[in-house]
This record gives sequence, structure tokens and C-alpha cells, in this order.
Amino acid sequence: MKPDFADIHEKTFCLDPAELENNIKPDTAVVLPVHFAGQPAEMKKISEIARKHGMFIIEDAAHAIGSKYENNQPVGSCCYSEMTVFSFHPVKTITTGEGGAITTNDKTLYEKLIMLRNHGLTKDPHKLKAQSSSPDVGPWYYEMQELGYNYRMTDIQAALGIGQLKKMDRFIKRRREIITRYNEAFKNLEWLTLQYERPGVFSALHLYVIRIDFERIGKTRTQVMNELKAKAIGTQVHYIPVHYQPYYQEHFGFKKGDYPKTEYYYQQCLSIPLFPKMTDDDVQRVIDAIEELGK
Ligand SMILES: Cc1ncc(COP(=O)(O)O)c(C=O)c1O
Repeated sequence: MKPDFADIHEKTFCLDPAELENNIKPDTAVVLPVHFAGQPAEMKKISEIARKHGMFIIEDAAHAIGSKYENNQPVGSCCYSEMTVFSFHPVKTITTGEGGAITTNDKTLYEKLIMLRNHGLTKDPHKLKAQSSSPDVGPWYYEMQELGYNYRMTDIQAALGIGQLKKMDRFIKRRREIITRYNEAFKNLEWLTLQYERPGVFSALHLYVIRIDFERIGKTRTQVMNELKAKAIGTQVHYIPVHYQPYYQEHFGFKKGDYPKTEYYYQQCLSIPLFPKMTDDDVQRVIDAIEELGK
């Protein structure tokens, strides 16, 4: 299977439906939109395009647990897709240490996922290929029907996840409070572009990405990151475009220049601290340090 990409929307940084439509090949089978930074991609349009071309949709909601589409349905309800995948890595909105979850409304997919998670094994009497009357079949009997792996979440991780789920609304509320302060503080900085929120959708705000016109402030991104680090403020770049990565270039022939909007975004982006435990003083310290960059 060969991966392909379509460029992002210049404001939302999610898959641009128009780019998707222009990049469909006769053998394109699956669309994987990412809900970048928590903001739901334009799923209604994406699903209309996918249906028209007979494509399957898997939503990458690693950033978007707790987010909602414009129809007010939660991300993960699969109202536009066959499956939605979540990540519970420690930096995500909720965590189980590592691991994730997949949601689907399709019973066949659900049962297949259950099997793949457990080495491709089943004990379900309705699914066994052997006859139940066969002497080989008994209470011990199981069959390996697929090449699966051990993708099981431990009970300990699941217990942590249940505890985290109960706190999720509080976490998201705090994230929103913090970005409201950031947006207010930064709105008049001419060298900085705020993270755009598409009207009508609800973002759980996994990340807060500002865009900086580095030329205008006369500093490189490295200088900016180092200046902030010296003030004990961690920043990161989310992400280096996938088509820049050696694996994708060597195996599939992607090259710099293939996705101009993604590349333009990459030149300017910087994620600044956003996590529920930030105190009001922490937020103010970040605001002061960012404002200082342009002075
Ligand atoms: C958008 C996106 N998709 C997928 C993943 C992979 O998640 P995991 O590491 O839990 O498999 C990540 C991880 O950061 C991500 O940010």
C-alpha cells in the first residue's frame, strides 16, 4: 500500500477538502484526516468526497478527544467515518501512559479489531472455522484466524484512563481558559498569527500553535526557542512535514516543494506551553516572554 498526502488548509492546518479532491488517484482507498491540535477537520465535506469516490475514512483523533464537529457530535462518534483512532500518550489530553483506542459503529470492524488486538485469536463459537461437533473443539479451543499482535491495554492502564476520563472536561476547560488569555495578549502583535478556530466546531485544544514571522523580529526559530528555554519555557515544532522525512522520500519519492501550504506553515509554527496544570502566573510568564521576543 502506498501512502499519499494532500496539502493542509492554510488556516486550520487540517486536511483541505479541495486538496483531497484534487489528489484522489484511481486506487485511493482510504482517507486519514488528522484533527490537528484538536480542531476537527472539515469532516462533512471530506466524507462527501470519500463517499463519492468509494473511499473508507479513518479519523486520526490523537489530538481530539473531547472535540466536537459542527453538528455537535463528539469526535469518535464516527458519524462521518468508519473508524476513529485516539492516542493516550502522556502528552495527550488524557493519558493511559501509552496506548490508545479505536471507535467504530461497524460491528464487523469491531470484531476484527478485537481479534487483531489479541494475536488474531478468537474463541467465539459463532466465528470458529472448525465444526463445534469436532473432537478437536472443546472448552479449551481457540483459533488463530488473522496475523494479529499483542495490542492489549493492561487493566492498570485502563484504570488510569477511566480516572483521566472523569477529569477530561476539567482539563479541557482549563486549556480553553489559558488560550483565551493567550489570544487576548497576542492579538495585536503584528509579527504573530494566532491559532485559528473554525466557527461552529469545538476544539479540545491539544496544542496551541502560534505562527511567528521570524524575519520580521530578526531572529531565527532556534534563537527564539533558546531564548525561551533560557527562561525555562519549553516550546516545540509540531511537526516536521512527513514528506521531508527520509523514509518517505527514499521509499515513495516525495520531495521538498510537494506541499507548499504545509511547508509555509512549517517555516512559521511554534507550539507554546499549554497544559491544565499551568497556573495563572505560568501563563503570564509565557505571555511576557513571547511579547519580549518582538522588542
Ligand atoms: C496526530 C497524531 N497521530 C498519531 C499519533 C500517534 O499516537 P501514538 O504514539 O499513541 O501511537 C500522534 C502522536 O503524537 C499524533 O500526534
